[in-house]
Amino acid sequence: MPSTVLVGTQWGDEGKGKICDLIAGDFDCVVRYQGGNNAGHTIVVGDRKYGLHQVPSGIMYPDCVSVIGNGCVVNPKVLLEEIDMFEHDGISTANLKVSGNAHIIMPYHMDLDGAYEQLLGDHNIGTTKRGIGPCYQDKMARIGLRMQDMLDESVFREKLGRALDRVNPQLEKIFGMPTYTVDQICADYLPMAERLRPYICESGLLLNEMVEDGKSILFEGAQATLLDIDHGTYPYVTSSNCTAGGSVTGSGVGMKNIDRVLGIMKAYITRVGEGPMPTELAYETPEGHTLTEDGYEYGVTTGRRRRCGWFDGVIANYAARVNGLTDIALTKLDVLSAFDTIKVCVAYECDGVRYTTVPEHESVFAAAKPVYEELPGWKCDISACRSFDELPQAAQDYVAYIEKLAHVRVTFVSVGPDREQTINRYWK
Ligand code: IMP
Repeated sequence: MPSTVLVGTQWGDEGKGKICDLIAGDFDCVVRYQGGNNAGHTIVVGDRKYGLHQVPSGIMYPDCVSVIGNGCVVNPKVLLEEIDMFEHDGISTANLKVSGNAHIIMPYHMDLDGAYEQLLGDHNIGTTKRGIGPCYQDKMARIGLRMQDMLDESVFREKLGRALDRVNPQLEKIFGMPTYTVDQICADYLPMAERLRPYICESGLLLNEMVEDGKSILFEGAQATLLDIDHGTYPYVTSSNCTAGGSVTGSGVGMKNIDRVLGIMKAYITRVGEGPMPTELAYETPEGHTLTEDGYEYGVTTGRRRRCGWFDGVIANYAARVNGLTDIALTKLDVLSAFDTIKVCVAYECDGVRYTTVPEHESVFAAAKPVYEELPGWKCDISACRSFDELPQAAQDYVAYIEKLAHVRVTFVSVGPDREQTINRYWK
């Protein structure tokens, strides 16, 4: 199996978890390369549902090595909870590895995440409040603590002391919040370090050795293209590189070793948190159906209702370019079965100018009005279709239309939440 990057192409929640779970077993290794426990996806195995936040999807396959790469941020408590959950259910975590260079989410990162959001008032980002932004901020400021630091008490204490010298005055003087002592955090974190010690390793080396041995790697992206710190709808983004490029820096594997980029694209679009979304729909649609309810669009991590809208072809085309997509997995096509007609955004208009690509200027994007094409719906249940030919003609045409907009082939079509409810057109 050629090494592949799996990446979200919209604002997240495209169904990466299902597709990742579907193909993870084809790979020798699954590595997460960015983000932390802001991510959340549900994997259904039989009648048991697992909500994953930190651990890569490969964990479900006993022979697959699951790596939390150097580009990730790790909340040790959440990671241990997930490890315990799997071990309790007889799913071995012996093949789980955590990069010694991944940064640790500290309690003050979570405090600051909330405090910064409050300070922003109406301009808040709508973060998951998991401490992600402040943790990456410390990484860039070079005062972050890494997983490797947890393994040596004196190093951990010393670095933590230096970090607190900068963090505590902020907490106290700017936000009037309680401060932390080194002892207090050590009491919490050092016992967790002992439990995590067997999992922590030089993951870049491990991955490159696997590549040299001819093993295949799946790079599991979290969040998505429009939440990327560089290529997303800044400032309403997360703090890491979610796009395919992040797979290289976030894992230590060179780009010549990556063969395919599979973009996960929902058949409509959703967003949680704040920021512009040109095709956003009012909550109720005239047909009495809502994408929110038909698609059960509520966040796995925070339970928030997702904002929903028609498929945005401008974004699809942009994501194809930014990530260098070779394939698309189109998800939740079945959710559109209820609609008489289906709109697809093919361009934006702003101040009389027509845009067929995402405008770089933030205020143009914020004011962009969608230009729609209306396609006929299929109005029947497609959740039992298992081949492309079984789909009604209107559904096939919808898929073909998306391929035309993105200039990338649609390799998978997902017609329901279960693994089997997937049409595989080209994947091998
Ligand atoms: P943060 O990643 O918690 O800093 O949040 C920044 C933005 O990214 C917010 O709009 C979040 O709602 C969004 N976000 C973060 N993680 C996810 C995800 O896994 N799915 C969808 N949106 C996300």
